[in-house]
Amino acid sequence: MGFKEQIDTSRLPEHIAIIMDGNGRWAKNQGKFRSFGHESGVISVKDIVEGCADIGVKYLTIYAFSTENWNRPIDEVNALMELLIATINNETDTLNKNNIRLNAIGDIASLPQQCIDDLKSAMEKTAGNTTCTLTLALSYSAKWEILEAAKKLALLVQDGKIKVDEIDEAQFSSQLTTVNMPDPELMIRTSGEHRVSNFLLWQMAYSELYFTETLWPDFRREDLFEAIVDYQKRERRFGKISEQLN
Ligand code: IPE
Ligand code: IPE
Ligand code: MG
Repeated sequence: MGFKEQIDTSRLPEHIAIIMDGNGRWAKNQGKFRSFGHESGVISVKDIVEGCADIGVKYLTIYAFSTENWNRPIDEVNALMELLIATINNETDTLNKNNIRLNAIGDIASLPQQCIDDLKSAMEKTAGNTTCTLTLALSYSAKWEILEAAKKLALLVQDGKIKVDEIDEAQFSSQLTTVNMPDPELMIRTSGEHRVSNFLLWQMAYSELYFTETLWPDFRREDLFEAIVDYQKRERRFGKISEQLN
């Protein structure tokens, strides 16, 4: 039996977050340039997005470019931005065909103008889609996001719009870029690295973490389904003890 058949569709994670990692090593292993790894990684993204839509995962958030990734060699940064622009433009029709809405989080204003424009246009074209929301984290860092939220809340207090005592988890969450999204129940990272690299720190407070040695360009929906089967075997206790769960 394949992993897909083992999934209990009544207990699917509503939101899966993925740190796609290992593109560079995958290319290097074959004596190719890192950019080849990134290009090949797009095929994985497409397969995973369609896999999520196929089984009914409502939110998929993919870490595509971190704030820290600006520190890579300029040629690689440029190649990634060009690939991003080409992919957004090539895939908008497919997103519409599959009823997938495109969303983006991060410091979008820091991206090249062409990227901002094409992203905006693709988001507008897919805005009415309802099967799945695909969120790309671009120029994203969780510490940046939390600081932005803190500043927005400080301004609301300063302007007398809210009181300090009113700042609770819901109020704080509403200032994050993931507003209106449930927190990810499952976070997957490929390539054998066991760290979260500044991704969704607030939202991942209670996520189940899944690490695989598979490099991102080799990751396919069957690997995603395997991760979901693993997730469904776990007991999420949220501080309680087993006997308290039904
Ligand atoms: C992930 O692959 C893609 C991005 C961070 C943009 P990497 O480029 O980090 O690949 P490795 O980790 O160097 O193999
Ligand atoms: C994290 O991957 C960022 C993305 C997946 C976009 P990196 O490969 O940049 O992470 P570190 O720096 O090795 O932790
Ligand atoms: Mg990496």
